[in-house]
Amino acid sequence: MPVKKEDSLKKLNWDEFYKVPLNKKLNYFDEDNHLFDCLFSQQFDRKILDHLFKLATKIRTIAKEKEGIDWLQTLLSHKRAILYFIQPSTRTFLSFQSACYILGMKVSEIRSTSTSSELKGESPEDTVRTFSSYTDLIIMRHFEEGFAEKTAWLLNKTNRPIPVINGGSGKDQHPTQALLDLYTLNWAFNDKGGIDNKTIAMVGDLKRGRTVRSLTYLLKNYKNVKFIYVSPDYLKIGDDIKKFLIKHKMEFIETDNMNKAIKNVDAIYMTRIQDEYDINGESKDIDYSKFHITKEHLKMIKKTAIIMHPLPRRQEIDPAVDDDPRAMYWRQERNGMWIRTALIAHIFGLDKVISAK
Ligand code: CP
Repeated sequence: MPVKKEDSLKKLNWDEFYKVPLNKKLNYFDEDNHLFDCLFSQQFDRKILDHLFKLATKIRTIAKEKEGIDWLQTLLSHKRAILYFIQPSTRTFLSFQSACYILGMKVSEIRSTSTSSELKGESPEDTVRTFSSYTDLIIMRHFEEGFAEKTAWLLNKTNRPIPVINGGSGKDQHPTQALLDLYTLNWAFNDKGGIDNKTIAMVGDLKRGRTVRSLTYLLKNYKNVKFIYVSPDYLKIGDDIKKFLIKHKMEFIETDNMNKAIKNVDAIYMTRIQDEYDINGESKDIDYSKFHITKEHLKMIKKTAIIMHPLPRRQEIDPAVDDDPRAMYWRQERNGMWIRTALIAHIFGLDKVISAK
């Protein structure tokens, strides 16, 4: 059945719709006040976050036993998903694929426009519409900002709308990465008063890193979180994020001094330089070496601090740091599979049946 949407929004063409402020169109991506498309971090409030974390942990517990895994695989065995990942990915792709398998979904994939009919001139819009003829869920990573939203907008106007999950959209957002980051923070600070009142240093390419953007948006749901944005001058956090922080009275400072910034923080969120977005190879002129964590830094930071990274990494974290109990990035990666399973389960309304198990 077509999803009921506000008529005024339904009448808009894409250019008009795209310009509508996010807070005025978020419910276009819900179905009867239930999350349908997952496109932006701003779709999540504290209640739904707490719920998803509990659901993820429950699924993880159920999956410890073969009987539990077998049961989970019955839940969506009648559904199919497509992973449309035309920008490179290892962990988002594999964790979503695994999440689909955990719930018994059948999965198809397209990982390059060179193997789809886009090579023959089919438009990206017709390509994604075609997916809805064969599958019940689209999970996508795309180099174009806004394309996941456009896909959801387009399909919600058809008589076969299917949910769209944004697995990374250009420099813009990566909401499910933010979910797994937050799930990890929540776990790490479980016996330390939770995420409220914590200070987080975000380090690296803050200008083009979509994970930092999405995580900042999600952290609005917590009280008195303070941010230190640490980057070379050229890679500073965008003005749109600063406006968001000011609007929501979220405390932040900016610096290029990583060694000083990380001393007293509760979490250090490292990111790699996103040189795939260079226009003229400008990244090669940036001295990124001051934004690397080595074993020496472990002596400077709090004993209770955690070190995070969305991965993949280059030299931002020396592998010699991996064995330190504060290194959280491999756990983060695995958490991605569980929270993404919970997200898919939630979109398909399995919350009660899983919680009751
Ligand atoms: N963190 C992340 O999005 O990793 P991939 O690019 O490997 O999916």
